[in-house]
Amino acid sequence: MTILITGGAGYIGSHTCIELLNAGHDIIVVDNFSNSKPEALKRVSEITRKYFRTYCLDLQNREGLEKVFTDNEIEAVIHFAGFKAVGESVHFPLKYYENNMNSTITLCEVMKKFHVNKLVFSSSATVYGVTDTVPITEESPLKATNPYGRTKQMIEELLQDLYDSDREWSIALLRYFNPVGAHESGRIGEDPNGIPNNLMPYISQVAIGKLEKLQVYGDDYPTVDGTGVRDYIHVVDLGLGHVKALERMLTTRGIDAYNLGTGKGYSVLEVLSAYEKAAGKTIPYTVVEKRPGDVAVCYADTSKAKEKLNWEAVKGIDEMCKDSWRWQQHNPFGYEKQSKMLVKN
Ligand code: WQD
Repeated sequence: MTILITGGAGYIGSHTCIELLNAGHDIIVVDNFSNSKPEALKRVSEITRKYFRTYCLDLQNREGLEKVFTDNEIEAVIHFAGFKAVGESVHFPLKYYENNMNSTITLCEVMKKFHVNKLVFSSSATVYGVTDTVPITEESPLKATNPYGRTKQMIEELLQDLYDSDREWSIALLRYFNPVGAHESGRIGEDPNGIPNNLMPYISQVAIGKLEKLQVYGDDYPTVDGTGVRDYIHVVDLGLGHVKALERMLTTRGIDAYNLGTGKGYSVLEVLSAYEKAAGKTIPYTVVEKRPGDVAVCYADTSKAKEKLNWEAVKGIDEMCKDSWRWQQHNPFGYEKQSKMLVKN
């Protein structure tokens, strides 16, 4: 039986493919490559020495998706595909609602038609919005504060309604905190389009010399050093969390949400210091205004995933930075062919 991975060429998707293959699962990937590169999947095969089918397909192409289900004996789906930039979603909300919602609806309709009712959904801690208390538990109220986060929250509610209409479904909603780092091989990693929005890819590009200095968004939060505190989780730990969630789902019915974090928060300056140690160089920064929408502190209560999925993150901030730096050093232009980037004389 085969696991279908939507958006499997993406940052978290490709790392999850590796862990699924290493755990002995057969997989197929559907990706429209709108925000990823086929090269990532080529490298997944190289790393695992395993072959798997890839379909270049938009999930809203219902006919094409049905053919994938016809041609493969699919047992479960892990659904990563979707737009995921908070800032972009504020400027282009309709693009986010159209893509993220319609893709998921089409996927679920086709799954239903082919009697596939096991689904792991890539959700996000952003569904919690501004929380009063930390650590954040899965029972914390959902109050996303941006269109991207609201698509994740709405999809969680859509999947709850789907389960309520047919209790044969088994659905896991995985709420990621802050995924960072890269596979130890240095062959796959985060490959953001344009200037990175997120902290660690921005730091890594300063360290490699592509960007001049880090802008620290505010240093007067009520935290250890005044800078924002987040729960950074190694993307390989995150991939392993998906394997555990899938394996639990294969033997149960029901719908449940799980926080995938480390349960430990690090400030911006603590991350910067860890990165300097990993890269062996000073990374320049300047403190600027707070970023609208940012909260001071956000980190997970991870007890539910530990108890029910028998999973917990094990990699610390130093390993996250080391693996991120190795990827950045070996791939200064991400998955772009380096020769393409060299200026011809
Ligand atoms: C982390 C900390 C910033 C950049 C976002 C999304 C969330 C999820 C994870 C998808 C904050 C500070 C950042 C910079 C900085 N993505 N920072 N300078 O905002 O916690 O979460 O990514 O699901 O939905 O909201 O992550 O990496 O952007 O910021 O000072 O150039 O670093 O203020 O304290 P965030 P981030």
